[in-house]
Amino acid sequence: MTTDADHNPLAEGLHLRRRPDSCILVIFGASGDLTAKKLMPALYSLAVRRLLPERFAIVGAARSEETDEGFRERMKLAVQEHSRDPFDQEVWDGLSAGMHYSTLDFADAEGEDELRDTLTRLDEERGTGGNRVYYFAVPPSAIGTLVDEIAARRGAKGWIRLIIEKPFGHDLQSARDLNARLQAHFAENEVFRIDHYLGKETVQNMLALRFANGIFEPIWNRQFIDHVQITVAESIGIEGRAGYYEQAGAIRDIFQNHLLQLVAITAMEPPIDFTADSVRNEKVKVLKAMHTPGPKHVVRGQYGPGFVEGELVQGYREEEGVAPGSMTDTFVAAKLFVDNWRWADTPFYVRMGKRLARRETTIAVQFKRAPHPPFEDAAAEGLRPNVLLIHVQPNEGVSLAIGAKVPGQGMTIRTVHMDFLYGGAFREGLPEAYERLVLDAMLGDATLFTRSDETEEQWALVDAIVSFWQRDRPSFPNYSSGTWGPAASDELVHRDGRSWRRH
Ligand code: BG6
Repeated sequence: MTTDADHNPLAEGLHLRRRPDSCILVIFGASGDLTAKKLMPALYSLAVRRLLPERFAIVGAARSEETDEGFRERMKLAVQEHSRDPFDQEVWDGLSAGMHYSTLDFADAEGEDELRDTLTRLDEERGTGGNRVYYFAVPPSAIGTLVDEIAARRGAKGWIRLIIEKPFGHDLQSARDLNARLQAHFAENEVFRIDHYLGKETVQNMLALRFANGIFEPIWNRQFIDHVQITVAESIGIEGRAGYYEQAGAIRDIFQNHLLQLVAITAMEPPIDFTADSVRNEKVKVLKAMHTPGPKHVVRGQYGPGFVEGELVQGYREEEGVAPGSMTDTFVAAKLFVDNWRWADTPFYVRMGKRLARRETTIAVQFKRAPHPPFEDAAAEGLRPNVLLIHVQPNEGVSLAIGAKVPGQGMTIRTVHMDFLYGGAFREGLPEAYERLVLDAMLGDATLFTRSDETEEQWALVDAIVSFWQRDRPSFPNYSSGTWGPAASDELVHRDGRSWRRH
């Protein structure tokens, strides 16, 4: 017997996936960067692997005027520039034949009627059966009206799924309001709040590592683990997104979503099965139990000028569109605790920022020292405690630091690494997070999406941190581009007799 994967090496690892039902994907915000750099390349890669629905159409919607042809041409260039797969004219022709564009002012009911008519016509032409996926790549302020309009025009036939991009609100109250607005018309299993970190292979591998292996879970707790360090470091700056970033800052851009999800996945209890509710129930429990012990344990920073990877870059306040005296954070470090039996008193040190020395996302689980090493002190000088290091990106993989005897006559022990690298172990390159997530949403699988209560718990922690910040005014900028953040970030960890992992 052969499988699809036997015929198509590109489908390795994806051969268990079924193709979604026929549907139309509507992208609100089709003129934006996300559509060009992430969504369209992801759809193209799914088309290459024959994972899109057999009968399928894409409708891009945005305020700017554009023809169907213009949209197709712009998306073709985007795919050629950003896709991980080589460009194949035949695949593109198949995909682009079902691509359309609709000019739409989000607050305008007439435009909504036109869009509905386009979709009804496409249902007839392409046999998409009334099924709809609406992708909201628009600011949170535009979502509410769109959701009301879509609900008002919901047809009798087919299913609806809404994919909502981050940021999901601005604080706890606005997130609650947005959830209420969604819940007024749609069931939770129709709403897919996206956090693209959950679509990353290495983040999902954390679940495989923990729950598919018998050896880690018995020691995955306060008895054996000294602390956990999570780093989300970027070398890039704000890339021309001042309008958004001035409002968000690092705390809302990455801490509230990507970083807290990494903590939740590291700390959660084993779910009883891998269904959306079981997995998300466990993550919510972690988020509910999380606290930071106070303002002294949260550090914020903003980058000044400096050298990143050998190149001189400007400071945050000099970036176009940023206020000269801006107090926006581009770096956050914090000590967090998860108050439950598994983790009580075990610190989770987290840090994340822009314009740091290099791009690196890692989860480092540092184990306690061996209780009684029977060697002389000098023999074990080069020995550090065991660390399980999950390289989320780049150089995706897992590495375990262990003590080993240095070859030779005496007994000298040094730390060495046992490494698993994705590139070496698997043939197929890693899919982009958006491929996985768009496909899951089309299939109706919400396991890797954020549930309403999860988002709210994340905001509750962020609101608590932001409220500390109203009391002090650090002198910004407080770190140079190309470093590992402000000195206070090191002090945060040194105070506890620990240090950030060596770079
Ligand atoms: C986005 C943030 O969610 O994640 C960006 O808005 C950030 O500011 C990006 O650069 C990082 O994503 P990745 O996948 O490159 O780590």
